Parts: sequence; structure tokens; C-alpha cells
Amino acid sequence: MILGHLFLQNFRSYSKSEFTFSENTTVIIGPNTSGKSNLIEAIFLLSTGKSFKTQKDTDMIMFEKQVGRASASTNPDSIGTNNEINLEVVISSGEFEGRQPSKKFLVNKVPKRRVDFAGNLVTVLFSPLDLEIISGSPGIRREFLDNVLEQTDRDYRLAGISYAKALRQRNALLELVRQTGKYQEKQFEYWDNLLIQNGQIITKKREACIRFLNNETKEVFDCALLYDKSIISHDRLEQYKKAEEGAGVTLVGPHRDDFTVCLYNNSRQTTHEVKTFGSRGQQRLVVLQLKLLQLLFVEKSLEQPPLFLLDDIFSELDEEHIIHVLNLLGKQQTILTTTHEEFIPQKIKKQMSVIELIKE
Ligand SMILES: Nc1ncnc2c1ncn2[C@@H]1O[C@H](COP(=O)(O)OP(=O)(O)O)[C@@H](O)[C@H]1O
Ligand SMILES: [Mg+2]
Repeated sequence: MILGHLFLQNFRSYSKSEFTFSENTTVIIGPNTSGKSNLIEAIFLLSTGKSFKTQKDTDMIMFEKQVGRASASTNPDSIGTNNEINLEVVISSGEFEGRQPSKKFLVNKVPKRRVDFAGNLVTVLFSPLDLEIISGSPGIRREFLDNVLEQTDRDYRLAGISYAKALRQRNALLELVRQTGKYQEKQFEYWDNLLIQNGQIITKKREACIRFLNNETKEVFDCALLYDKSIISHDRLEQYKKAEEGAGVTLVGPHRDDFTVCLYNNSRQTTHEVKTFGSRGQQRLVVLQLKLLQLLFVEKSLEQPPLFLLDDIFSELDEEHIIHVLNLLGKQQTILTTTHEEFIPQKIKKQMSVIELIKE
């Protein structure tokens, strides 16, 4: 799927703007705060239905405005299997109507649920924030896995929705037990089943994804991912029953998953965790490696390359790795941002389409 045009209205720093992208590589050049990451965030939102910067959707609405809008049209592909698609996300603060904030998804102007919206425009994003995949909390590593799998697998998206719902309901029941001692057996049975059924789907798919990532050659940085899964089953829930009633929350299941990235020693045993022992430079390379593997995974799963988004990563990489990334251009549609055009060799820049942003 090729992203052709992007239209933004009251989205972050953009009151009204339109952009056109090359089928190959587009470079967005602009000084700090000129809106490069905002633009990438809009594309990511149109791809996944979420922001990569904020949990609070209304943050994306321009200051002082009530409704923010991002829409994109994809180019029909040359073989004619994909027609032009229009994707749109409308975020509303709800304030002017005295309503709750809302986020609406539209495909060709028809409202959709996120499960049917995500997956139309598939992206792989690499931004400096991704360093947190190594250094941050387990939740960020789960987000990484979700980002890979939600875009490539509708069943994973569906399992995620049902799992989250079952977890919410079950936690409410556990909280009731904790506070009042009242145990609603029939209700537990229903939500336990839903939780286990969908939790096991999530675990299986995450396991397969991590296996794939481990089996691929790693040209940038050799490392291994160890899946620290929190298995969910009737036995495990039984085992943790007392503890969960005391805590008022569900203590096992994929919402507690994590993975570690480890270095190899000379005899190819995984030894030290990159999080604890890797230098910042090594951690950056590991993240670059993970992103390159994500590209491969997505391309293999969907049999077409995703849109590659690179947000201001050149200032963080040494020359050797900048060249490594530049060598990937042309293999898929790519949109990259930079503050300094010097990072991109003239010869390569000539083949790119250039968008220049000015400081507001
Ligand atoms: N909701 C918003 N409304 C208006 N401006 C915003 C909003 N969120 C962020 N900004 C502004 O956007 C600018 C940062 O844009 P960004 O895309 O991060 O720049 P960069 O080019 O450095 O990546 C800042 O000036 C910030 O104040
Ligand atoms: Mg930025």
C-alpha cells in the first residue's frame, strides 16, 4: 500500500496542511519544532489508530481547538489489486457539545471500528523514542509486540479486544471479592473462559513472532530475544486465586508478559541483558536491529513491504549505520525526517522527493 496524500486539519501544530509523498523515498527537512514528528505521528495514527507519543488522544488536537483531523489517501497499486483507499481519523474533545472525548475511524468515509481500520496502511516506525523498548518498562515491550502483530494479524487484534474486556470485567469481580468477600462464581467462570481463550491466542502469536525474530540473521547487532511469558490457564488461575483475591487484580496472563534482549558470549550462549550491560550506543543498534526485523516480519506476513517511517534517527547513529539504513531505501516506500540535510549524501538526496518545513 502506497501513501499518496496526507491532509491535516487542527492536528497538533498544523491548522490546515496537505502533503504529497513519493512512491519511493520522501525526506522531510526542518529545524526542531517545525512539525516533523507531528507529521509522522499523523501517519502512524492513520496506520494503527493510535499515537506513538501520547496515550491521551485529545493531545493531538491543536491547542484551543475542539476537533482534529488526519486523513490519507493511498495510491492504487500497479497490479490493480488495491484500489485507492481513503483513511480518516477524527478526534474530538467533546467539549463544545458537553460530551466525552471521541476518536472516529473512517475508511472511504464509512465509520469503522479500530479493529477494521488498523491494518489498511501498514507501517514500521523507527524513532528515538524506541530506545525505550530496551530501557523502558515491560509495557513498552508489549506495545512493540502489539504494534507488530496488530498490523499484520486481524485475529490478534480481535483477541486483544476480547482479552482486554475480559480482564476489565474479571478485575472488577476480584475487586468486589477483595472489598466485600462476595464471590460471583458463575460470572468468574464466564470471564475466566474468555480470558484464557483469548490470552492463549495472544501468547501463541507473540511466541511465533519472537521465534521469527530470533531465527533471522542479524546484520546490525547479534542478539537474542527471550520471551518471558506469563502463561494463562485454568490451573494457573487456580494457583493464583488467593493472591488475586487479595490484590483485587488478575496476576497472570499476557498483560504481564515481557521479553529481554540478550547478548551472546563466544560460545553462543545468551548471557547478559542489553538493558543492564549494553552501552547506550549498543542499545540504539539493538533497537535498529529490532526495527529491521520488524520490517522483514511484516513483509513476510503480508507479502508486501510496509511503509517505513524514520523520525529523526540520523543524529543518533554513526556513519556506518546511517549508510546501512540508507541502503534500505528503494526497497519499500519510506518517509524520513531530519534536521540536517547533510546527513543524506547529495547523490542519494537527488533521488528523493523533498518536503521542507519552516519553523512557525
Ligand atoms: N496539540 C498541539 N497543538 C499545537 N501545537 C502543538 C501541539 N502539540 C505539539 N505542538 C507543537 O508542535 C511543535 C513540535 O513539533 P514536532 O513535530 O515535535 O517538531 P520536530 O520538527 O522537532 O519533530 C512544538 O512547537 C509544539 O509546541
Ligand atoms: Mg521530532
